[in-house]
Amino acid sequence: MLRLGVIGTNWITAQFIDAAYKQEAYQLSAIYSRHEATAQALADKVGVKATIYTDLDAFFASDLDVVYIASPNSLHAPQTIQALTAGKHVIVEKPLAVNLKQLAAVDEAVQAHPDLMVFEAARHIYDANFKRINEFVATNDVSGATLSYMKYSSRYDAVLAGETPNVFSRQFGGGALMDLGIYLVYAAVAWFGVPNRATYQAKMLNTGVDGDGVMRLSYPDFDVTLITGKTKNSELTSEIYVGRDTLAFDQVGEIHHLTLKTETETTDLSQPIFDNPMEAEAKAFAEAIETNDREAFKKAWTLANSVHQVMGQLRQSAGLHFDTK
Ligand SMILES: NC(=O)c1ccc[n+]([C@@H]2O[C@H](COP(=O)([O-])OP(=O)(O)OC[C@H]3O[C@@H](n4cnc5c(N)ncnc54)[C@H](OP(=O)(O)O)[C@@H]3O)[C@@H](O)[C@H]2O)c1
Repeated sequence: MLRLGVIGTNWITAQFIDAAYKQEAYQLSAIYSRHEATAQALADKVGVKATIYTDLDAFFASDLDVVYIASPNSLHAPQTIQALTAGKHVIVEKPLAVNLKQLAAVDEAVQAHPDLMVFEAARHIYDANFKRINEFVATNDVSGATLSYMKYSSRYDAVLAGETPNVFSRQFGGGALMDLGIYLVYAAVAWFGVPNRATYQAKMLNTGVDGDGVMRLSYPDFDVTLITGKTKNSELTSEIYVGRDTLAFDQVGEIHHLTLKTETETTDLSQPIFDNPMEAEAKAFAEAIETNDREAFKKAWTLANSVHQVMGQLRQSAGLHFDTK
C-alpha cells in the first residue's frame, strides 16, 4: 500500500483520491494546502483521515511514499523537484513543465534520483481505448489524422467578465494548449512519433494566453491536425486515416467510442473503460512504483520528454512564452 500525499485541493484531487482508493493500492496520508480549512474540507469530502500540512517542507518530511501534485501549472516543476529531493515518487498533473527550462530542471532531478519515479498524469494514455489505438497504428499504414479536444471551460465566463483565473493566466502557464491541447500532443507523439515540424495557430485572449487554436504536425509521409480550445464545446469526431478506411473516435481526452469504417462495413472496436477516468493511470502508476518497474517508468518519461519538446515548438510558433525563475 502506497502512502499518498496530495497538493492542491480542487475537485481533481478528490477525483484522483477516489481513483486511488478504487484501486486499493494507495492510502491517503498527507494533504498540503495553503489553508488548513481547505485541506480539512477535502478530507471531509473524500471521507478519509489524513495529516494536514500548511508548510510544504513539513509535508515532504512526512512519511508519504508518493505525492500527487495538482497545483497551478507553473508550480508543478518546482514542487516535483522538491518532492524528489525529499525522496518521494511523484505523480504530477499535466503539464509537468511550462517551459523547456523547467523541463530540463525536472529531468536533471529525475536523473539524480535513479531510485524514484516521476509520472505525468496524462490519464488518457492509460485508458483501454487509447491502448487499442496504439495497436491499430502499429499494424496499419497511417495516412493522416485529425484529432480534437475542445471544451467550454467553467472558468471562461470569469475571463469574459474581465478576470484572470489561474488556468487562463500567463503567470501560471495557462491556456488551451497547456490545459487540453497537451492531451492531443500526447496522442500524436504516442501514436505517430515526434513530428519533423509542429506549428500552432492560436486565438489569443485578453489574459495573454490562447483560448483555442489549430496545430499542424508534419511527419515524413502525412500531416496531423490537432484542434483544441477552452472557449467552445465541440462535438467533433477524431479520426485516423488508413487509405480509404477511417478509425473514428470521440474527443481524445476521454475516448468512449471507437469505430473502424471501411467502404463496406463499420466495426465497433470500443473497449470497456473505468467510470472514473483517472483509475487506469492510478493503477498503472501504483503497479510501476510497487514493483519498481523501471522499464515502465523509462517509457513514460521518454514519452513525456518528447511531448514537451513538441509543446515547446508549438508555444514558440504561437508566440506563447511562460517565464519562470
Ligand atoms: N487530469 C485531469 O482531468 C485534470 C482536470 C482538471 C485539472 N487538472 C490539472 O490539475 C491542476 C490543477 O487544476 P485546477 O483547475 O484545480 O487549478 P486551480 O484551481 O487553479 O489550483 C489548484 C490548487 O492549487 C492551489 N492554488 C490555487 N492558487 C494558487 C496559488 N496562487 N498559489 C499556490 N497554490 C495555489 C489551491 O489549493 P490550496 O488552496 O489548497 O492551496 C488549488 O486547489 C492543473 O495542472 C490542471 O491541468 C487535470
